[in-house]
Amino acid sequence: MDDSPRPPAPSTDLERLGAETGMDLSTMPAGLAQRLAAIGSDFRQLTLEYEFALREVETKMHILQDEFLHLHDYNPIEHVSTRLKTLDSLVAKSNRRELPMDLGVWRREILDIAGTRVTCSFRRDVYRVFELFTERQDVEVISVKDYIAQPKANGYSSLHATVRVPVYLSTGVVLIPVEIQFRTIAMDFWASLDHKIKYKYDGEVPADVVDELREAAQAADDLDRRMESLHDRVHGNVRGNVRGSGSGPTLLV
Ligand code: GTP
Ligand code: MG
Repeated sequence: MDDSPRPPAPSTDLERLGAETGMDLSTMPAGLAQRLAAIGSDFRQLTLEYEFALREVETKMHILQDEFLHLHDYNPIEHVSTRLKTLDSLVAKSNRRELPMDLGVWRREILDIAGTRVTCSFRRDVYRVFELFTERQDVEVISVKDYIAQPKANGYSSLHATVRVPVYLSTGVVLIPVEIQFRTIAMDFWASLDHKIKYKYDGEVPADVVDELREAAQAADDLDRRMESLHDRVHGNVRGNVRGSGSGPTLLV
């Protein structure tokens, strides 16, 4: 039997929400903390629905991956990861955008509460996987930002899609938005370093570091192109209709 001491059970809505989210609500302005505690159970429902949406997206990605592997003996996806925005960062984003502390508004206005990152082998795979995923009838595309065709000024590069997927609950179907970032391994390597550097400097990154990061992004882009062309030289370009017949629509570019 486990004899280790257990933390005392939370006694108020506020303590309960703090225990569940890991947030230190005692450091918040009292009004805000009370408001959050009041929306506690609605927030738990929201979290659950967005968590289900992430599972849906992850499963769809893995099915796509397995089907591609089966048909073409080639795996275009290296890695799929998911994350749900924490309550802290949801509150922070809501404040940045001057939104009211209202879950209905957050559901409508904040479309990256659920996020999925799909890391692919090559640039071409990024677009292939994006197309195969968004062509599904149960995936509704809300918006697409192609930072590969047009990288951000700092060098950030990825393909972003905000989609809506259905989640089937006992009470009916809800459509949940999910932000999906498609990128190559090199883009992911760059973005995670960039993120760590921004965090270390608290957003105020020195100009020489910014310059070097931009150059590193260029180097990552060069590497992506070289690796893809090397791969094509050795294996040829994997093409084909993923549904396998000549009569249906060609789903791959
Ligand atoms: P957010 O309020 O951050 O969601 O901005 P936005 O709605 O304008 O979306 P944008 O497409 O700029 O960025 C969405 C997400 O992409 C961010 O939350 C990051 O995960 C990622 N991202 C965007 N720009 C950068 C960047 O310069 N560096 C890194 N590391 N990630 C970035
Ligand atoms: Mg975001």
